[in-house]
Amino acid sequence: MTASPLPYPLTLTGPGIVLREWGADDLDDLVALLDEPDIARWTPMPSPFDAEAGVAYLRRARQGRVNGSRIQLAITEEGGRPLGEVSLFGVTTDLTAEIGYLVGRPHRRRGLAAAALSTLAGYAREALGLRRLLLRIDPDNTASTSVARRCGFWLSGDPPIHQEGPYGSTRLDTWEFVAGQVGARREYRQNVASRRYRRRT
Ligand SMILES: CC(C)(COP(=O)(O)OP(=O)(O)OC[C@H]1O[C@@H](n2cnc3c(N)ncnc32)[C@H](O)[C@@H]1OP(=O)(O)O)[C@@H](O)C(=O)NCCC(=O)NCCS
Repeated sequence: MTASPLPYPLTLTGPGIVLREWGADDLDDLVALLDEPDIARWTPMPSPFDAEAGVAYLRRARQGRVNGSRIQLAITEEGGRPLGEVSLFGVTTDLTAEIGYLVGRPHRRRGLAAAALSTLAGYAREALGLRRLLLRIDPDNTASTSVARRCGFWLSGDPPIHQEGPYGSTRLDTWEFVAGQVGARREYRQNVASRRYRRRT
């Protein structure tokens, strides 16, 4: 953990989205969003995700917010009903943290996850001063790897993390965004391209 707790409460605004705190009134929407096969497949959520799981989830979310160990925000369009979630957790003293996201099935393919990830990652870098942001993604999760790529994350090369789950063993790759290295990565790729095609870029 960093020396100071993560800010609470928090509202963040990004392109077409408002990220806001979860509230007790969100229980029915939360259950409808999370009780879904892709979320069961690709995230550690309990399945089936019923009202009891929802109550426990909102309680843990609030604890994590109040004790400052995580940021966990509902993705909304204008601060209204939740359409998904984005979270930041596992902050270390070397200014690294992990980010996770999910979007309810009816709301997918509208850019919500990409907008939420960019907004929270921007806040983490600029307001919290975090240097390295990580995503853990199963390589078969095409939707999530597309979101990572679109938001400027790249495969870190860290060894895969193996996990046993209800769908068998999974292998999570680490994707990273390192502050200050984006330009350097672009230059590296241009140099590789120039060597490959024997021309200067
Ligand atoms: C992964 C997930 C959050 C994506 O949410 P989303 O709001 O639909 O994503 P976006 O609309 O922001 O899409 C961002 C990019 O991913 C691409 N994408 C999204 N879903 C895709 C899919 N199923 N297949 C291929 N590409 C996909 C979009 O086309 C877009 O790429 P582009 O910028 O090149 O057009 C959503 O599918 C989900 O909640 N899945 C289940 C939970 C999960 O996997 N969470 C992540 C765990 S690591």
